[in-house]
Amino acid sequence: MSKQKSILITGCSTGIGLCCAYELKKQHYRVFATARKMEDVIQLNAQGFESYQLDLAESNSIKTALKQILKQTGGTLDALFNNGAYGQPGAVEDLSRHVLTTQFQTNVFGTQELTNDVIAIMRQQGYGRIIYNGSVLGLIALPFRGAYNASKYAIEGLADTLRLELYGSGIYISVIEPGPITSHFRKNAFIQYQHNIDKENSFFKRNYEGMETRLKKKGPAAPFTLPPEAVFKKLQHALESPHPKAHYYVTFPTYLLATLKRILPTRMLDWVLRKVSQEEN
Ligand SMILES: NC(=O)c1ccc[n+]([C@@H]2O[C@H](COP(=O)([O-])OP(=O)(O)OC[C@H]3O[C@@H](n4cnc5c(N)ncnc54)[C@H](OP(=O)(O)O)[C@@H]3O)[C@@H](O)[C@H]2O)c1
Repeated sequence: MSKQKSILITGCSTGIGLCCAYELKKQHYRVFATARKMEDVIQLNAQGFESYQLDLAESNSIKTALKQILKQTGGTLDALFNNGAYGQPGAVEDLSRHVLTTQFQTNVFGTQELTNDVIAIMRQQGYGRIIYNGSVLGLIALPFRGAYNASKYAIEGLADTLRLELYGSGIYISVIEPGPITSHFRKNAFIQYQHNIDKENSFFKRNYEGMETRLKKKGPAAPFTLPPEAVFKKLQHALESPHPKAHYYVTFPTYLLATLKRILPTRMLDWVLRKVSQEEN
């Protein structure tokens, strides 16, 4: 019988992380389904996962979780799915240094700290798969999403570099670029918006009113939204194919916008992106 494969997933409380944890468990993976909040860890344990608290914004939490997981596996890990992240809405000029830093602490610095610790394990064992959950917003920008955009662009840069540095090591790097997927993403983004953006004193006060409607909308807010299982299909390929891809596009908007970025001059692409964001708001 072949050995059960192990995977650490971040951000399993809801959405894509939770869905992928379930699907992989069904396929007999040993899933270490981590979550930021202890109450979610308790829930996940009750649902039969080996769950640990892992807050990407805290180095101690990252180190402790990984240590506990490696103790369970005897020091090996087959795969890491860097999924946990959140979106900080707001016009770039309304983002304080603190708010930008906080966005990067979770989406970029914590994610990469965990990844580097896992690479050390994978280098020793001589194999491994690391999959980042990127975004179409790591390929193109949309207004009022600058902090999140920048964090996902940063992930693309780190993943592209790692692919070159890890060539021949047996460790494969992939990035999934979802586009709109049903999850708690907008609900969580709305909380960050309320905490961190001073709408009343912003040049963009009226735009924020449209944005609030979109963030509060129940159900899909964008056309061609897919369920999180669509991301799982790509994750499965990245985990199991002998030739995992560097990039996996998921929804139609990702395929379309990635193509337009390649073929359109910037001025025309910007026109399209302004239109897209007006329709969304
Ligand atoms: N939904 C989309 O349309 C979409 C599109 C493109 C990319 N993505 C990407 O998909 C991934 C999952 O998002 P989702 O759509 O499933 O949204 P979600 O339902 O909001 O899930 C996000 C997960 O990330 C966790 N998280 C946030 N901050 C964290 C931290 N400091 N440490 C550890 N975990 C943290 C959340 O935990 P809490 O519950 O504790 O906050 C939650 O478990 C993200 O990387 C996101 O950028 C989503």
